[in-house]
Amino acid sequence: MKYNQMKRIDKILQNKDYNKYIKKIKKFEKDREFCKHNMKHFLDVCRIAYITSLEEELGIEKELIYAAGLLHDVGRWKQYKESIPHEVASAELAMDILMDSGFSICEAESIKHAILNHRKGDGSKDTLSDIIYKADKLSRNCFCCKQEQNCNWSLEKKNLTIKI
Ligand SMILES: [Fe+2]
Ligand SMILES: [Fe+2]
Repeated sequence: MKYNQMKRIDKILQNKDYNKYIKKIKKFEKDREFCKHNMKHFLDVCRIAYITSLEEELGIEKELIYAAGLLHDVGRWKQYKESIPHEVASAELAMDILMDSGFSICEAESIKHAILNHRKGDGSKDTLSDIIYKADKLSRNCFCCKQEQNCNWSLEKKNLTIKI
């Protein structure tokens, strides 16, 4: 099997600000007992969203999915620090990183829209925004989480089984 490189995704991973934000989140979540917002979570979201796009034959570009997955929670530290809703902070912080990584304004706007709507969805079906919203929820393994009883997610949101 031949692996393809995603050059613009590599650029995001190497971006100085991106790495700075991830470190800040890690610091704020050091003692957090609920789900964390780390690279494992970001990649779970990327991969679940990409699998959805493949299974549903949506044909959404892989780099757009990975960019949205990697960046959707990047402003989480601002929620801890300044009480700014993290979808808003993440969408804002993502723009510069996307521009620096070679995405066009049009692509960056569609990723930004997906980030802004990753918590509640935007009511659309089969869009980048829709698959990121669903992948974000599906990525959490509530069925084996020690904090499941204390978590404020609604029962229908929780993954008490592996959903397909
Ligand atoms: Fe989030
Ligand atoms: Fe998330």
